[in-house]
Amino acid sequence: MKIEIDKDFPIHFKSSYPEEFELFSHFEVTAGIPSVLFAITTWKENGKPNVCFHSWSCFHGDKTAFFAVMGNLYQHTHTYANIMREKCFCINFLPIDYYDNLVDTIHHNKTDDDEFEAGGFTQSDARTIHAPVIDEAFINIECTLKQIQDLSGAGITAMVTGQVQHISVDEAYAQGYEKRYGKKGFMLLIPAPQNLVTGEPGSSAIATSHIEKYD
Ligand SMILES: Cc1cc2nc3c(=O)[nH]c(=O)nc-3n(C[C@H](O)[C@H](O)[C@H](O)COP(=O)(O)O)c2cc1C
Repeated sequence: MKIEIDKDFPIHFKSSYPEEFELFSHFEVTAGIPSVLFAITTWKENGKPNVCFHSWSCFHGDKTAFFAVMGNLYQHTHTYANIMREKCFCINFLPIDYYDNLVDTIHHNKTDDDEFEAGGFTQSDARTIHAPVIDEAFINIECTLKQIQDLSGAGITAMVTGQVQHISVDEAYAQGYEKRYGKKGFMLLIPAPQNLVTGEPGSSAIATSHIEKYD
């Protein structure tokens, strides 16, 4: 038997905080699909560096180009405004050890905040675009803005697609699987899986990957 969840909000779903389902679709916690966590870095209009902890994205391309598709960036964020203005951004992958540092940047999110300082990150300049990059990241991906699309049309979020121009990889992560796909590698967001039977809310979880087999 399968539990069927429709487009209409399931009346037995309870939220874990009052605005949860103002911000997120109930489908997000119905499926609870994990996706990689990273930091988007951009310049604010006043010249201060901005860090945005983010997920909800995928990365792919063909032989002519490679893209970072950030499916769900909130339009009210500094990051959205910065990308609209600068037409570029950097994606920084950090290990789970930096989770608390990244959350610190959420709590120091004023226009005048230097969010690298807030997160204790070392800043350097991107090589091909006008953006700050996080030195502690094991991969930095420099992107130029390719496209912005408001998928729902509600003016809340946007799908922001960046075309990858350059990737920097920490030498320690340049060979083999252990570093990138172990506890010091990519971290993943598991978005608060709802108990679909009782409707009780779950907690978001942070995961790392574990290789089961090779193809
Ligand atoms: C795991 C995770 C947790 C987040 N938690 C919050 C949160 O508690 N409050 C919030 O406003 N945004 C949260 N965000 C979203 C953005 O990181 C946050 O809004 C960010 O500070 C926006 O930055 P900006 O305005 O500088 O672009 C979270 C993102 C992730 C990936």
